[in-house]
Amino acid sequence: MIGVANPARLTSEDITEITRQTNYGTWRFQKGWKPLHVADAEGCWLIDGAGKRYLDFSSQLMCVNLGHKNPRVVESIAEQARELAYVGPGYATAARARLSQKLSEVLPDGLTKFFFATSGTEANEAAFKIARMYTGKTKIISRYRSYHGSTAASIAATGDPRRWAMEPGGKSAGFIFAPETNCYDCPIRHTYPGCNIACADYIEHMIRNESDVAAIIVEPVVGTNGVLVPPKEYMPRLRQICDKHGVLLIADEVMTGWGRTGRWFAVDHWGVKPDILVTAKGITSAYVPLGLCATTSRIADHFEEHYFAHGHTYEAHPMTLGPAVATIEEMQRLRLVERAAELEPYLRAKVEALKAKHPSVGDVRGLGLFFAVELVKNRGTRERFNSMRDKVAGKPLVVDQIAAKMLAQGVTIQAWISHFVIAPPLIVTKEEIDYGIAALDEHLGIADALVEA
Ligand SMILES: Cc1ncc(COP(=O)(O)O)c(C=O)c1O
Repeated sequence: MIGVANPARLTSEDITEITRQTNYGTWRFQKGWKPLHVADAEGCWLIDGAGKRYLDFSSQLMCVNLGHKNPRVVESIAEQARELAYVGPGYATAARARLSQKLSEVLPDGLTKFFFATSGTEANEAAFKIARMYTGKTKIISRYRSYHGSTAASIAATGDPRRWAMEPGGKSAGFIFAPETNCYDCPIRHTYPGCNIACADYIEHMIRNESDVAAIIVEPVVGTNGVLVPPKEYMPRLRQICDKHGVLLIADEVMTGWGRTGRWFAVDHWGVKPDILVTAKGITSAYVPLGLCATTSRIADHFEEHYFAHGHTYEAHPMTLGPAVATIEEMQRLRLVERAAELEPYLRAKVEALKAKHPSVGDVRGLGLFFAVELVKNRGTRERFNSMRDKVAGKPLVVDQIAAKMLAQGVTIQAWISHFVIAPPLIVTKEEIDYGIAALDEHLGIADALVEA
């Protein structure tokens, strides 16, 4: 029994304690979870129950691209609730029509038919079902360094260790893994450009040797697993391979969409047109939960004469769609995609300077306002401080120790295995970038002290 009599008088300690006792903390051992009570958030800043401010240096889960409390988007939520809070997915609504029109202004050409879900994982589930129904084939090729969501098919498509606990019974069948493209730590030990993009050739080899491949799913720039930016030839080559073998290309832009990389979508960097694009997060700046699975008209045409076997009670939920229109309008008004591209050299120079100064920084890489700082014990061997096994075994990670120090100093940052993801809201100022970088700079000494001589 949680003994707080008057909910109106909950202290910050009560709020943290009730949350800890009654809720699951995700992707972690429950012991030791002490969630910070966030009472407010504005712009690039969170404010805790005691009024202390924290720079949100990773836009929460790389999703609050507009920054917190954008007044226009906040208002659009109230407007949508007044206009029409809910009607089932079988009906047409103004919010649905407005967003569908608006999407055509920003999505890569050719993606014209939409299925709206309420998360990235659900949008990927839709993509897999659509790809399988359309092609009549089953297998989906994904890559090891990837995350595609936590539900049965999306976790099966996830290459990272979040999948392991579900092996083999808790995930759907039919997902197979290719090596990722990672020019810092190439899984097949090649070196760019001499490799001639052997990692893409390997995918073609898989298609030739497997039967029944319906689709390949990739994060065009791998997100949580290290902001892995592929060489410029990679995505166009994948497009060619898919065309040659009649395999669909699914771009998972849940994290990379909505200006994060300095383009509306990461595939725009290479002019690649996927058959299916999946996105979520920044589509509403995460103010309301919305996922999108967008397909070509060619795929859509198939379902004119075939049963579309998918749906949710909350598909095309009006409360999620109205705010998405406002989010896109705000991104356009504030020129945030251009801003991410303009600030890229500034942020790049800052992380390069960290690498020059700290022996524990093995690599820095990124695009737009999306960078990774990867920590290694040894720059020669590129061995990281912690492994994926350490993560799932609940061992204390070096990056988590640094992130905890940064939090105490007033900066929140996403840490994963042995790297940080820097992805501030796209409204961030240079001064705010300096503030976040200074906190990281100050505490990287923890890792420097552990570098092998
Ligand atoms: C690339 C990618 N795909 C899918 C997902 C799953 O999205 P959600 O957490 O909204 O289900 C994520 C979440 O981080 C992601 O980064």
